Amino acid sequence: MEIVSDEILEDKLKRYLDRRQLPDAFLYIGERGATNWLALEASTRFPVASALTALLQEHVDSLARQATHYRSVVSIGAGDGQKELILLRELRRYGRPICHIIDISRPMVESARRTLGKLDIETRGMTAFCEDLDQLAPHWDRPTLLCLLGNNFSNYDPDFLLNLIGRNLGPADAFLLDASLRPEKEQDIPAWVQEVEAIYNSPENARFNVSPLVTRGMDPESCRFELKLIRVPQPWGEVWRTHKRIRVLRPALVRCGAATVAFAAGDAIEMGFTYKYRLAQLQDCLQQRGFGLRDTRLDSTGGNVILLAARNTTETTG
Ligand SMILES: C[S@@+](CC[C@H](N)C(=O)[O-])C[C@H]1O[C@@H](n2cnc3c(N)ncnc32)[C@H](O)[C@@H]1O
Repeated sequence: MEIVSDEILEDKLKRYLDRRQLPDAFLYIGERGATNWLALEASTRFPVASALTALLQEHVDSLARQATHYRSVVSIGAGDGQKELILLRELRRYGRPICHIIDISRPMVESARRTLGKLDIETRGMTAFCEDLDQLAPHWDRPTLLCLLGNNFSNYDPDFLLNLIGRNLGPADAFLLDASLRPEKEQDIPAWVQEVEAIYNSPENARFNVSPLVTRGMDPESCRFELKLIRVPQPWGEVWRTHKRIRVLRPALVRCGAATVAFAAGDAIEMGFTYKYRLAQLQDCLQQRGFGLRDTRLDSTGGNVILLAARNTTETTG
C-alpha cells in the first residue's frame, strides 16, 4: 500500500524548500536516503541507535510476555526492521501477529519486510507519513501493539503525536516507544551537551543531513550543517531539543523532480528536531495526554528508556 509516491514526495519537498524548510522525513527517502541512514546507524560514531537496540534486546522477553494477545504489531518508522525482528521473534513464541510496517521511505519498507521474512509471519508495508495515521489505522488487525522505536517518538511534537496516536488506538491496544534521555542531574548537563553536540555534528551526521540537497545538485561546499541543543518550555517543564539547520554559503540550485529551487547565500533551511526528555517528563507527557504506563525499563546508564503504555479509557485525550 502506497499513500505517497515518489512524485508526491518530490513535489512536497519542493514546497518545503521554497519555505526554507527540510523536514527530516526527506533524509530517508529513495535508495540513497535509505543507504545513507543504514550506514550512519551502523557507524560507531553514532551510538544512539545501537544503545536503543541493546535496551530492547535486554527487555524483550518481559515486554513480549505482556503482549502475547495482540493480533498485529504496527511499526512507524521501522528503518530496516531490526528492532521489529527482535520483538516479533519473541512474540512468535506465543502466536502469529501480522506486522504492518509504516515508513515514508519505500526502500526502508521493503528492507524491513525482507528482514522479517526470516519469521513465518504475514507482513504488510505502507509507504506513508506517520502524519497519515488516520487513513492507515482502519487497515490494522486489532488488538494492535503500536511501536515507535529507535528514538522516533522524540522526533515529533509530543502533543501532535499523542493526539494522533490516541485517537487511532482502541482501549485494547498498546503503545511501545523508546527514547534517548537527558541526564537527571543538572551538574551533568554541560558535559552531556558537549557530547551530544559532538555526536550530532560529526562529519557522518552532517553528510547525512545535507544529502537531500547534495543528491539534488547542491555542491557540498555551498552549504554548512549547524546543530545545537536548546531549551524549550513545555507544559510539563523545560525540555532540551536539538535545533538544526543548513546554512547556504553560496548561490545554489536544487532539483526536485522537474522543478528547481534557487537558494541565495545566507539562506537558512530549518530542519527537524529531537527532544531529549527526563524520564519523569516523558512519563508526565504520556499520562497528561491520556496514556497509562504499563512498564518502564531503563538501561544501566539511565540514558535510554523503553516504555509500554495504553490509552486510559476513563480520561480524555486533550
Ligand atoms: C531514526 S530512523 C529509525 C529507524 C528504526 N526504527 C531504528 O530504530 O533503527 C527513522 C525512520 O523513520 C522514517 N521516517 C522519518 N520520518 C517519518 C515520517 N514523518 N513518517 C513516516 N516515517 C518516517 C525514516 O524513513 C526511518 O526509517
